[in-house]
Amino acid sequence: MTSANSPRKILVTSALPYANGSIHLGHLVEYIQTDVWVRFQKMQGHSVHYVCADDTHGTPIMLRAEKEGITPEALIANVHHEHSADFKDFLVEFDNYYSTNAPENKELSQSIYRKLKAAGKIATKTIEQFYDPVKNMFLPDRFIKGECPKCHAKDQYGDSCEVCGATYNPTELINAYSAVSGATPVRRETEHYFFKLSECEGFLKEWTRSGTLQGEAANKMGEWFENGLNDWDISRDAPYFGFEIPDAPGKYFYVWLDAPIGYMASFKKLCADKGLDFDEYWNADSSTELYHFIGKDILYFHALFWPATLEFSGHRKPTKIFSHGFLTVNGEKMSKSRGTFITARSYLDHIKNPEYLRYYYAAKLNSTMEDIDLNLEDFVARVNSDLVGKYINIASRTAGFINKRFDGKLQPSVDNQVIVELKQSANTIAEAYDARDYGKALREIMRLADIANGYVAEKAPWVMAKQEGQEAMLQQVCSDALEMFRLLTLYLKPVLPKLGSEIEAFLNIAPLTWQSVALPLAQDHTINAYEHLITRIEPKLIDAMTEANKENLQATPAVGVQVVAPVAQAALPEAEYISIDDFTKVDLRIAKIVNAEHVEGAEKLLKLSLDIGEAQPRQVFAGIKSAYDPVTLVGRLTVMVANLAPRKMKFGMSEGMVLAASDERGGPFILSPDAGAIQGMRVK
Ligand code: MSP
Ligand code: ZN
Repeated sequence: MTSANSPRKILVTSALPYANGSIHLGHLVEYIQTDVWVRFQKMQGHSVHYVCADDTHGTPIMLRAEKEGITPEALIANVHHEHSADFKDFLVEFDNYYSTNAPENKELSQSIYRKLKAAGKIATKTIEQFYDPVKNMFLPDRFIKGECPKCHAKDQYGDSCEVCGATYNPTELINAYSAVSGATPVRRETEHYFFKLSECEGFLKEWTRSGTLQGEAANKMGEWFENGLNDWDISRDAPYFGFEIPDAPGKYFYVWLDAPIGYMASFKKLCADKGLDFDEYWNADSSTELYHFIGKDILYFHALFWPATLEFSGHRKPTKIFSHGFLTVNGEKMSKSRGTFITARSYLDHIKNPEYLRYYYAAKLNSTMEDIDLNLEDFVARVNSDLVGKYINIASRTAGFINKRFDGKLQPSVDNQVIVELKQSANTIAEAYDARDYGKALREIMRLADIANGYVAEKAPWVMAKQEGQEAMLQQVCSDALEMFRLLTLYLKPVLPKLGSEIEAFLNIAPLTWQSVALPLAQDHTINAYEHLITRIEPKLIDAMTEANKENLQATPAVGVQVVAPVAQAALPEAEYISIDDFTKVDLRIAKIVNAEHVEGAEKLLKLSLDIGEAQPRQVFAGIKSAYDPVTLVGRLTVMVANLAPRKMKFGMSEGMVLAASDERGGPFILSPDAGAIQGMRVK
């Protein structure tokens, strides 16, 4: 532990989440882990800056925007909004949350590139790549699909087969096609820019030895060195959403070149806003500290490319890289079909309180790269027993007496044995937080909570309250219990900052820092009325959450609603047209909704009975519950796909689909024919 009398200057980052998806519970492992560490270091009195940003560049984002009919800038602005709200609501408190598509980042990326070039670390090479002749663009492996060369499963990605797990080159796919246009890709030559990583081995070996990496990460590095380092392809051809490479028309920086520079850019913006000195933090001889929190999947980028980029562009290197494992839910990979692929927002919608998850993750985290498991049953049990049963219990059994019998006034605590023991643990707990062994810190804190509860149980203030002549004793015991509660609150505050500040308000004290350990509640200090601070998690909320996440998936097109998305371009590339024969394969019929009802246990679905002139009405489950009261649908005409293969769903058979329009602007809106149409008519 470094003592608090020499404030350290610390810059901390979490990996920049991609701007083409929502934040989910897996991501949150990292942002919560980092946030706890930052809050702890701030409580130590250090000068800490925590920055992050959306990772906005690359082909997937460009194509997604195009599909949604919006510009990439509009797409990333929407996502920035969404991500910022998710982080805020999980109490992840960045000092700046920026975007890689920012002027600071463009300038830094281009100037770093120029320095690398001047240092002789950039080379060009002509390579052969797959090209989509219809869409007129080079295709990343993920955008080439075809038949798996091993098991012959259709529609597999260019790098690996989801059916048999084989990995291969896109060249090995049978009947390869472009996932963008459907066209057959051709091989085409193009000149690319490379960062000469192969020349950086000496530097990287030296750097690895300096203790910057965890043991497991250093071992991984060893393997990479053994296999030899390849030069790194840092360019992509237009069209590409990113920054242009200086003096290289039509060439753009590969997203992973400007992404980590985004750490610097976000900090640069913070410097401008707060009057900090950017160079003091990034010059080669900087004496400040720089820590990157990342997942184990992106170690290669942070332990090889990033330090080499910094070194050969004349910047400081990271002090440490802290790499964590992956989240599993109930012992398995997050899964959409099991309902365990849970977004941050969906957790908040159902469970509401973000601190439960913060507590559970912290209890599971340590400094290694091992995966961590969110066992949903254990989550409920742990939070209820530790937070409600042990911790809050101390205040809820004692504060009322102080409020009611003593006008909120405390006795100064006499350092009884329990309080002494609680104070003595301050260093052990601090060391555990500092070492990212939050599991250890929380085990120690809960051990102390047990002791404090033992104290309250033994003194039994509720018995004293009924006896005469015990007033002074009662006030003393409750005051001491609240001093214990204050210390526990301080220790838990990096993990539970919101509850911490609510308790500060209740105890009527200034924000707790690590120095407050030695500043007990004073004589005649008056506390505020105790209000209920936290409730138990109801297990049924968990079931509702997993159910809702299962249904989300089913409610996408195949569950009875054909979503009509806005079309981006006026004309489609040739390969995206369908023939008249393709169209007539779809049997569209006018259907009369003869019955519509809610489905027990389904959040999104309505059960419809549709008359299309057959002997029996068709049963269809449609994800339109959010927009329609079933009674208002009965008797209406709509359009259905009548020859869709029946699909067995959780709630019964679905025998077709109704057409409805929806996108982020609204919906679903079911389609209706003009007056005169009669059920059973074919739509053509
Ligand atoms: N954009 C890159 C990072 C660029 S950093 C210069 C990226 N983005 S990501 O959205 O895929 O992941 C962001 C972080 O979340 C990564 O550190 C990643 O390891 C972490 N996680 C994503 N899914 C995760 C789990 N299921 N479990 C734990 N961490 C996970 O990678
Ligand atoms: Zn296969």
